[in-house]
Amino acid sequence: AQPGMHSSLPFFFQGKTVIQAEIDAAAELIDFFRFNAKYAVELESSQPLSVPSSTNSMVYRGLEGFVAAVSPFNFTAIGGNLAGTPALMGNVVLWKPSDTALLSSFAVYRILLEAGLPPNVIQFVPADGPVFGDTVTSSEYFCGLNFTGSVPTFKRLWKQVSENLDRYRTFPRLAGECGGKNFHFVHSSADVPSVVNGTLRSAFEYSGQKCSACSRLYAPDSLWPQIKEKLLEEHGKIKVGDPAQDFGTFFSAVIDDKSFARIKKWLQHAKTSPNLSILAGGNCDDTVGYFIEPCIVESKDPKDPIMEEEIFGPVLTVFVYPEKQYKEILQLIDTTSPYGLTGAVFAQDKNVIQEARKLLRNAAGNFYINDKSTGAVVAQQPFGGSRASGTNDKPGSPHYLLRWTSPQAIKETHVPLRDWKYAYML
Ligand SMILES: *[C@@H]1O[C@H](CO)[C@@H](O)[C@H](O)[C@H]1NC(C)=O
Ligand SMILES: *[C@@H]1O[C@H](CO)[C@@H](O)[C@H](O)[C@H]1NC(C)=O
Ligand SMILES: *[C@@H]1O[C@H](CO)[C@@H](O)[C@H](O)[C@H]1NC(C)=O
Ligand SMILES: *[C@@H]1O[C@H](CO)[C@@H](O)[C@H](O)[C@H]1NC(C)=O
Repeated sequence: AQPGMHSSLPFFFQGKTVIQAEIDAAAELIDFFRFNAKYAVELESSQPLSVPSSTNSMVYRGLEGFVAAVSPFNFTAIGGNLAGTPALMGNVVLWKPSDTALLSSFAVYRILLEAGLPPNVIQFVPADGPVFGDTVTSSEYFCGLNFTGSVPTFKRLWKQVSENLDRYRTFPRLAGECGGKNFHFVHSSADVPSVVNGTLRSAFEYSGQKCSACSRLYAPDSLWPQIKEKLLEEHGKIKVGDPAQDFGTFFSAVIDDKSFARIKKWLQHAKTSPNLSILAGGNCDDTVGYFIEPCIVESKDPKDPIMEEEIFGPVLTVFVYPEKQYKEILQLIDTTSPYGLTGAVFAQDKNVIQEARKLLRNAAGNFYINDKSTGAVVAQQPFGGSRASGTNDKPGSPHYLLRWTSPQAIKETHVPLRDWKYAYML
């Protein structure tokens, strides 16, 4: 059956709409493959200086052992890139796809084989997550982990790796991407239509199951009545349903029962907390699929857990601030959540944009000015965040390839040393 739906349908959208699936499984995966090949060729041509007495070169070796790659359900392209990049750099990869994206991952794996990838360079290993993690990190040949998932799981694996450090032949490389609590900051000089449409798209596309999805909006009291009116008006037009039956659908189900239950708890919190009031949505229904209505919440308290913790679902929380206090709000945004993935500033005032860039320097690995917090394109906005969001290795850029190679510098001398003494001693 299709993840996210109970009935078995002929399509495997992983809860995406047709256009989202095409952007992901075809367009983005192709971008990853083509740009990584380009970066690898450029890296190869990045060579040290040679002088008349010696020729120097750099060989970009694969790591000595295997890389374990744990891919998430939400992007078929991530799975393909995850297996493809290290293989391109000469590594052997153990690829554990998400349980809820097995078929699409297997299709990518088979395409790679069909395209001529030698068998066993990538080993496709559908497995239980924790068992896989424990097994691979205890092998002496373990030399890298590429992980996408939750902070607690990544921390657990990191600890396990340190426990096993004495066994390994080489210091393993650990790369992790662990989500975010992304913000849209709106200044009183902002253009309201771009705030409204940017926020709706960012918070609710793919049912909020993107690590870059906007989940906290900070709006000035002067603009809030306007923003609120338009936000609710446009919210009313969001078509929720089964994208396989109706191609006009914008919004589908979330991936599985676990995800549904987790988000449902947040909806309950929004209904019962005196800090919060629900402005739109708030219902959910799992009779035919794991459907959660796109939900907009207003919080009177900027430190309510709903403003701090990742939800990974279609829940947007708004905090309305006194327009004059925007500097304090920038500080507040920086210090509210442990994450540092994406964020956006909406302002026409150039000075405010400068201030925001400075104050929010460490709050986001992908920072947007007058644009929504989602939609990073390979080779245009290399993606990743620091703090609890991960190791910020920026897949989709040359930086990333460097993580999966162990360069060897070779010097070939043409003038052999004829004496052990320094010249001044002769
Ligand atoms: C690591 O994961 C990222 C996505 O999070 C992917 O783009 C990349 O190719 C993966 N690399 C390896 C070595 O598995
Ligand atoms: C948002 O986009 C819609 C088209 O989808 C447009 O009709 C509407 O005017 C935009 N909203 C605002 C507030 O401009
Ligand atoms: C995909 O989902 C995982 C959770 O399973 C999350 O940690 C990750 O950040 C998401 N990646 C993107 C690019 O949305
Ligand atoms: C309201 O927000 C405060 C944080 O300022 C938090 O301590 C409190 O627990 C929240 N109330 C509920 C019911 O979650």
